[in-house]
Amino acid sequence: MSFVNKVVLITGAGSGIGAATAIAFAKQSAKLSLVDIIEEELNNTIEVCKNGSEVLKIVADLTRDYEVKRIVSDTIKKFGKIDVLVNCAGIYFPAGILDDKLIDKFDKIIAVNLRSVVALTNNAVPALIESKGCVINVCSILAKFTTKQNLAYSISKAAVLHFTKCAALELAEKGVRVNSVSPGVLKTKLQIRAGISESQVNAGLDFVANSTPLKKLIEPQEVADVILFLSSDNARSITGSDYEVDGGLLLSGLPSNN
Ligand SMILES: NC(=O)c1ccc[n+]([C@@H]2O[C@H](COP(=O)([O-])OP(=O)(O)OC[C@H]3O[C@@H](n4cnc5c(N)ncnc54)[C@H](O)[C@@H]3O)[C@@H](O)[C@H]2O)c1
Repeated sequence: MSFVNKVVLITGAGSGIGAATAIAFAKQSAKLSLVDIIEEELNNTIEVCKNGSEVLKIVADLTRDYEVKRIVSDTIKKFGKIDVLVNCAGIYFPAGILDDKLIDKFDKIIAVNLRSVVALTNNAVPALIESKGCVINVCSILAKFTTKQNLAYSISKAAVLHFTKCAALELAEKGVRVNSVSPGVLKTKLQIRAGISESQVNAGLDFVANSTPLKKLIEPQEVADVILFLSSDNARSITGSDYEVDGGLLLSGLPSNN
């Protein structure tokens, strides 16, 4: 897989899966446009990537439409094109139907996890058509089964899954592929940012690892590997597909879910 002279735009590149994806593309000498809302974390990723790659840093809040436009225009100004768009930024916090703050939480989650994905893809589409590029959306296995307290997050990811297919159908005739990856549970900062204590997060992760058929947690690098495959010419006949990277967790579901 060669990404020499390919321009890859990655959101949520400051941390977790987005950072691992940026580093993986840097190792393949791609030109990187890296986006995150937290500058300090983005700087850490760029420090690792800049030896192998030319990197553009974009600090932006994806929920603001003018910043979404700036992400695309700055990338084109710097590199002249976009070959790969990886929509990875996301947020998580518990929110269920009994929650009296549900609608506030729902709006926040939908704004980042769904609306910004649609907005950024929409803005990047002319450049992607020109390059005959591709889009990879980072979804979740929670798009495909339900757990208590995850209503808002699950809905946002289920909608991204469907958005992937809708966009794939329309863009296929333009030579642009659109796919998604659905990770299982990983140890990143996603849950800590939601205010869940480290001990609770670790207990949850142990439980998931034991419940997973392959008896392991998923590493961000493993999700990045699949994103690179889907972005490469090896995946030239794949569009509208979702790749689960979950150690087989979806085969059995979570046993606590009752
Ligand atoms: N961690 C998991 O268990 C897991 C499982 C399935 C799917 N996912 C998905 O993977 C993606 C990456 O999550 P992660 O686990 O690496 O979490 P993470 O918190 O480590 O990374 C998410 C990144 O998105 C950035 N971000 C959040 N809101 C933003 C905004 N408004 N504008 C710009 N950047 C913003 C954050 O600053 C952060 O760097 C998310 O879409 C998440 O839903 C994660």
